[in-house]
Amino acid sequence: MMSGFGNHFASEAVPGALPVGRNSPQKVPFGLYAEQLSGSAFTAPRADNLRSWLYRLRPSADHGPFEACAGAPLLRSAPFDEVAPSPNRLRWDPLDIPAAATDFVDGLVSYGGNGDVGAGRGIAIHGYAATASMERRAFFSADGELLIVPQQGALRLRTEFGIVAVGPLEIALVPRGVRFRVELPDGAARGYVCENYGAPFRLPDLGPIGANGLANPRDFETPTAWFEDVEAPFELVQKFQGRLWRTMLDRSPLDVVAWHGNLVPRRYDLRRFNTINTVSFDHPDPSIFTVLTSPSDTPGTANCDFVIFPPRWMVAEETFRPPWFHRNVMSEYMGLIEGSYDAKQGGFLPGGASLHNQMNGHGPDLASYRAAVAAELAPHRIEGTMAFMFESRHVIRPTRWAMETPLMQADYDHVWEGFPKAVLPG
Ligand SMILES: [Fe+2]
Repeated sequence: MMSGFGNHFASEAVPGALPVGRNSPQKVPFGLYAEQLSGSAFTAPRADNLRSWLYRLRPSADHGPFEACAGAPLLRSAPFDEVAPSPNRLRWDPLDIPAAATDFVDGLVSYGGNGDVGAGRGIAIHGYAATASMERRAFFSADGELLIVPQQGALRLRTEFGIVAVGPLEIALVPRGVRFRVELPDGAARGYVCENYGAPFRLPDLGPIGANGLANPRDFETPTAWFEDVEAPFELVQKFQGRLWRTMLDRSPLDVVAWHGNLVPRRYDLRRFNTINTVSFDHPDPSIFTVLTSPSDTPGTANCDFVIFPPRWMVAEETFRPPWFHRNVMSEYMGLIEGSYDAKQGGFLPGGASLHNQMNGHGPDLASYRAAVAAELAPHRIEGTMAFMFESRHVIRPTRWAMETPLMQADYDHVWEGFPKAVLPG
């Protein structure tokens, strides 16, 4: 693996395969085919420009027509209009691991999303629960970048750029259009996916924090070139405008022998996040925990922020330390990778999820509130936990599955019942 965010990398699986000094020389070494993969418009400003050059055994253009296909029966895309969007606070138990053999793609289950899949705006939020590796099958999303957050079990992503191995407490970021297949080295796997239709995730600006802190660029790892020279029937599935399409190849599409550029898959270990918080009183807004942001056209107002709640010291003086009550113009989907979340004393389980949409009040449950106001305020460390949030400027519209699954907790509102009325003097 190589590391850095925003860097240009170069890698070759066979010495001498990477052209030097030219992107597309008249004769590419070994007769490889040069192909540019663009993740931004050609004319995007240099700081936003994303592209890589791939040198492969055969052109990726060499395929027959894609045909619409079945699969991933619970995968949905914008527009999310199966059911009316709900203002209610929603919470779900973890996805069940399927009894039948199910690979990563077929195991995708959409909770909801927003925006417009064709207009480059919004996100989709999926869970996955998988039991089988993809062997002669590869996938790509033409609709968005994939931020994959494993919760249980490891994933080995065999991508056009190389192998990205991730497990719980790590994330993988697969650019739009990059082909990959997913192996399950530990067996059953479960987690979350943010399919980002908007601007690619990037590191947030740090402002007065300075040049260091939060997720540091050097901790984003990029694979080295790897390819498979497999001459056998291979199914290539793409997600395009919300539907799955397939074509059959006579070879593996993962045949990139060398590449260079800055549009690359990445891995990041959430344990490397430099968590910053108060050392006096109150606590900053949870944006202080932003790992990656997909900006929108409105400054500071994200298409999606990926935010984590990692282990950390709590030292605030004379302060209500858990997340406070609030109502937000942004909409918040939360998941939990391990442990418990400090605003909830039950019901929010690893692998579970919650959704708090625009302007609807949420915050600590009654038990967490009572514990927080009674606590002796000594420094203490929150251990063994990792919650995260996909936060979006656009309302997160649930799917029919999300509203009708028995995994939804019908009694979620009760966690905010029973708060005693404040007592005024006199
Ligand atoms: Fe919130």
